[in-house]
Amino acid sequence: MAEILLVDDEKAVRTTLSIMLQKSGYQVQEADNGQSALDRIKEKFFDLVITDLKMEPLDGIALLRSTKEINPSTEVLVMTAFGTVESGVEAMRLGAYDYIQKPFDKDEFLMVVAKAIERRELMIEVEQLQEELKEKYRFENIVGRSNEMMEVLSMVSKVAKTDSTVLITGESGTGKELIAKAIHLNSRRKNRAFVTINCGALPENLQESELFGHVRGAFTGAIREKRGLFHEANGGTLFLDEIGETALSTQVKLLRFLQDGEIRRIGENDPVHVDVRLIAATNQNLEKGISEGKFREDLYYRLNVIPVMLPPLRKRRDDIPLLINHFLEQYNKQGKALLKTVSPEAMGVLTGYDWPGNVRELENVIERALILSSKSIIQSEDLPAMIRKNHPKQAGDAGSAVPVLAPDQTLEEVEKQYILKTLDRYTWNQKKASELLGISTTTLWRKLKSYGIEPKKAE
Ligand SMILES: Nc1ncnc2c1ncn2[C@@H]1O[C@H](COP(=O)(O)OP(=O)(O)OP(=O)(O)O)[C@@H](O)[C@H]1O
Ligand SMILES: [Mg+2]
Repeated sequence: MAEILLVDDEKAVRTTLSIMLQKSGYQVQEADNGQSALDRIKEKFFDLVITDLKMEPLDGIALLRSTKEINPSTEVLVMTAFGTVESGVEAMRLGAYDYIQKPFDKDEFLMVVAKAIERRELMIEVEQLQEELKEKYRFENIVGRSNEMMEVLSMVSKVAKTDSTVLITGESGTGKELIAKAIHLNSRRKNRAFVTINCGALPENLQESELFGHVRGAFTGAIREKRGLFHEANGGTLFLDEIGETALSTQVKLLRFLQDGEIRRIGENDPVHVDVRLIAATNQNLEKGISEGKFREDLYYRLNVIPVMLPPLRKRRDDIPLLINHFLEQYNKQGKALLKTVSPEAMGVLTGYDWPGNVRELENVIERALILSSKSIIQSEDLPAMIRKNHPKQAGDAGSAVPVLAPDQTLEEVEKQYILKTLDRYTWNQKKASELLGISTTTLWRKLKSYGIEPKKAE
């Protein structure tokens, strides 16, 4: 129910209007001057403030200004004395929804109020919509509609709201760092630092001082003191990439942090508390590391509070055409490619390949093809021989319906055959088929028309 604050120094006016408003279903509070109105506005939110202009202390214009400062989305309706249009116009300039001249009749008054409330409700809806869009936008750079990726993404949005430690596992190039960033950006820590350390890139003796820092003279070569990455990440997120590569001595310190939230710089006696969320990633089998004595089992369990497993690309081939389109769009945006598409044949090769380097390898292959091909369509010749060579082995696999070219067939016939096969596979769902083919639904429709084929209804 909309809440209205009614401000007028004449009690009789307040009472009459208040009764009218309540009868129309609004909740009404009254104030007899600008100052007492302002005190209420500071305490609670009103959808609408209806105010007289001439009041002491604090007149209607001053109240309007302060209201808009405190709650810009509160609507203000100003009542002006007969013949003082100017102050009404000034009020609107300052953000009032409208003004109404005294004396006014009941219907006129209730209509203006209803309109102001309607606008307020509309604004609430718009705000909510914007929030929802923002939510979506945060995942915009992560592509994936396969069941496997949907699972990962729903996990991401769930864990983002917590401070739990997350362990992301997956083969190289599956998007572990991308997911780690998404967790950070969707968490309450999003405006604080996201600090990355690649444990594998650092020799054992440097890992500790990088992570925890050291005091001056802590060891030979420590000529000045150093803040560690834990300090830099304070309030934010620390991403430990290739956690499987950390030295056992570093693992002990990480474990201590996970147990009591405290770290100690090298050469310092007193531990300090830091507020850091840890996300770790690995493309190795940590359990194997444990059995080989290279990774501490207790640390593993503390890191693996929330496991996120990124499936390899070959286990989610449905995502391949989407990813290809995503990368083409990205290059288009950067002005590196102009509206290139992938020929159906090349798309078949790409969806059929096993992608040991996963999404990163796919990204590189697309970039290479864009550079190599001067035409507007990427053909299979533009793809690395490796990928083309592997292709026939994948026959029968999802996404590899490319027919073998018979000697007397024209390319056009092959294309037609491929399109029809793809449509059949997706039970004539033209949207899905066109996605896999890497063409727009309009192009698909045009091609069908040129073959003289009537599109079947999707099942
Ligand atoms: N689902 C996805 N949508 C869009 N881009 C993706 C997706 N997954 C990965 N990428 C892109 O692929 C590349 C590799 O991803 P990322 O660096 O996150 O992988 P990784 O798992 O950390 O690899 P590594 O184990 O080799 O470090 C990046 O450019 C990333 O933006
Ligand atoms: Mg990585």
